[in-house]
Amino acid sequence: MKKEIEKILQDATTEISKIGNKKDLMSASTKYLGKNSVLADLMKTLRTLPNEEKRVMGESLNLLRDKLNQLIKDKDKDIDIKLLNEKLASEKVDVTIPVKPHEYGTMHPIEIIKKDLIDYFVERGYTLHDGGDIETDYYCFEALNVPKEHPAREMQDTFYIDSETVLRTHTSAMQVRTMESQQPPIKMISAGNAYRLDEVDATHSPVFNQLEILVVDKNVTMADLIGTLEGLIKHLLGKKTSMRARPSYFPFTEPSIEADALCPKCQGKGCPMCKGSGYIEILGGGMVHPKVLEMSGVDSSVYKGFAAGIGLERLVMMKYGVSDLRDLYENDINLLKQFK
Ligand code: DAH
Repeated sequence: MKKEIEKILQDATTEISKIGNKKDLMSASTKYLGKNSVLADLMKTLRTLPNEEKRVMGESLNLLRDKLNQLIKDKDKDIDIKLLNEKLASEKVDVTIPVKPHEYGTMHPIEIIKKDLIDYFVERGYTLHDGGDIETDYYCFEALNVPKEHPAREMQDTFYIDSETVLRTHTSAMQVRTMESQQPPIKMISAGNAYRLDEVDATHSPVFNQLEILVVDKNVTMADLIGTLEGLIKHLLGKKTSMRARPSYFPFTEPSIEADALCPKCQGKGCPMCKGSGYIEILGGGMVHPKVLEMSGVDSSVYKGFAAGIGLERLVMMKYGVSDLRDLYENDINLLKQFK
């Protein structure tokens, strides 16, 4: 019987060592430890042996069973490790494989111009003031010398939220808020959306962008305004461009001007883009009306101010040769990706 036990152990060791998967290991386990195994048969014959031998053989058989169990347990662990390694190998990430290039978006041309102008003014000591698109009637009109029944309101008809709240028709509302919050000297800009009840066409949109400029100090003159605007336009459209200022009317400036830049397409000769005039209107401005200064708490006998409001869409169209305003709002990727 001893020989048999040794043989079983030897056979099992060889067989189990060759096993590479759980299924075969299960069959080996049944074969060597199951109900119909040689070991089970030997256990049964124990009963027939004389007592002394029974004890010795019993011990040997128990030892054999323990060893077989251990062999199977070890193999089971080996297989687990092998499976894990295979899984890790199959899931390995090759960090050296070149990745697909990531497509970055581009800045919208209106944002490019806005950012450029903000940088231009901030570099020259202006502070940037943020305002809300929703404004009160007071800041949008009343405090800018446009009382309730003033005809100028009609030109800037807008979306009323209630009788005292509107979507701002211009960024000029920020002039008043700034003057109320700080004493001169003031050099401020504010940029953002403005809204008017305009029909959409090639040059109009009910939502558009403006940049507001306000300077309040002692001895500020119209020459400062013209010089500032000329510097700005040359910065944006190149040294060769020129600007012309015409007398105009705004209730919040006296005197008031409107300024045009030389048409970049025809250089003043006259073309469809400038409707034959050679110039394109880009802004309104003037010397801040003393009434507006006073209403905002600024002493108009000591301080003067100049202000201007510039339409950004116009500048984008001029700078990049966009002939239809609607192209700027359609978010056509083919148009936008040109602005890297
Ligand atoms: N707010 C005017 C508009 O939207 C433009 C304007 C005119 C702005 C005169 C000013 C200004 O600051 O002084 O048509």
